[in-house]
Amino acid sequence: MREPPGPGMWQTYRRLRNTPLREFPVFLGEVDRQYGPVSSFRVPWRRFYFVNDPAAIKDVLVTRQHDFIKSEGTRAMRELLGQGLVTSEEPLHRRMRRIVQPAFHRERIAGYAQTMREYADAWQPPQDAFDMHEAMMELTLRIASKTLFGADAGEEADRVGAALHEVVTIFPDVLGPFGAITRLLPWGPMRRFRKARAVLDEIVLALVAERRRSGADRGDALSMLLAARDADTGEALDDRQVRDEVMTLFVAGHETTANALTWAWYLLALHPDKAQRLRDELRGDAQTPYLDAVLNETLRLYPPAWILGRDAVREVEAAGWRLRKGATVLMSQLVLHRSPEYFDRAEEFLPERWLGAPPELPAFAYFPFGGGSRKCIGDQFAWTEARIELSRLAARYRFELEDPSRPAEPDPIITLRPRGAVMMRASALTGA
Ligand code: HEM
Repeated sequence: MREPPGPGMWQTYRRLRNTPLREFPVFLGEVDRQYGPVSSFRVPWRRFYFVNDPAAIKDVLVTRQHDFIKSEGTRAMRELLGQGLVTSEEPLHRRMRRIVQPAFHRERIAGYAQTMREYADAWQPPQDAFDMHEAMMELTLRIASKTLFGADAGEEADRVGAALHEVVTIFPDVLGPFGAITRLLPWGPMRRFRKARAVLDEIVLALVAERRRSGADRGDALSMLLAARDADTGEALDDRQVRDEVMTLFVAGHETTANALTWAWYLLALHPDKAQRLRDELRGDAQTPYLDAVLNETLRLYPPAWILGRDAVREVEAAGWRLRKGATVLMSQLVLHRSPEYFDRAEEFLPERWLGAPPELPAFAYFPFGGGSRKCIGDQFAWTEARIELSRLAARYRFELEDPSRPAEPDPIITLRPRGAVMMRASALTGA
């Protein structure tokens, strides 16, 4: 077994000392270029491996998945998500996944598609320039609330949006190198964080209470959670567990898709010829391979989940490399998806690369939804939603950047959001 090479602790410290968290992908790219696809670096309290090799990623996420638990960063997310699907460990995770899974079956998604179409058709752009990211966050929040919890997020959407924004902007402090300390302090970021969390809790708990009262089975995620009974004890889930799962689906289920849509509009606005090609395809009533290609290419260049972390619970071999017990393995879609080794003209937006015969890629050279037992439960939901919103809105409007000379920068915090607003203008297409 080979020992992954990497910079020494002092060198790492010097490089990371003044590096904000958002520059972390740049650091990972440097380590990869200098030391190769499986490298190692450490801070005083922890060893990290940066695994940028598809075969080794497959070993970590699939073949040897039982040798890993979620990483420290995910554990910090428990402050918000409790023990929901994203943050829990076995055996609780397996049990809950089984309970929630039916809400994501093919027939259910076909039903949600109806709601997704209605919301797309009702969507109106503001007259003036508007922030596309904010618009997409609102749209996907409404869709997630309606489909998964049967709630019209109507007036609540603004409050939820503001609270989520607060939570997400505070997260770098909570997740950063001093996060463990920050989380213990009752003032500063944690105070704001707790306030925002209380707003979300209040909304989520009201949703749960309302459904319990009505006793209706709507076949959505909330109904699955309330109807679930323990196989041995026959007990229902308690309010805490229901709250954690609802909050998890709420957060995981709309921000990621909103980011994907925002980046797709951004890329299409930068490439009007490709936007035109998409519109031409949508005018026909045949299949829509270009639409899928645009989405694939968007998730390649701007993967909303841009990094995954796992901690090794015992020593593991991954693609011939020795990964030590207790170390954190980092895998980054953002870095690997832009690797020239797997993608020609890797930095360019070329949906065409996904047309015809699919590109010959090793498994896990492209993994926007992760893999193994922790693979995204909402991948088909997200894909269906993104296809519907993108095709329906692209057929009715042309979106242009208000200031094309100002590129949107990705902000790699939890998800890959744009940094600041992405200001656009919509013009209605005639004959749409
Ligand atoms: C483009 C949109 C999306 C992307 C890129 C995405 C990506 C991911 C990734 C990479 C993971 C794995 C995390 C890990 O291994 O540590 C994940 C997990 C998860 N996602 Fe998504 N996701 C998207 C949309 C959604 C939607 C729409 C929902 C729900 C409605 C959802 C719910 C979840 C849940 C519950 C998990 C945890 C699954 C488990 O551990 O069993 N996601 N997602």
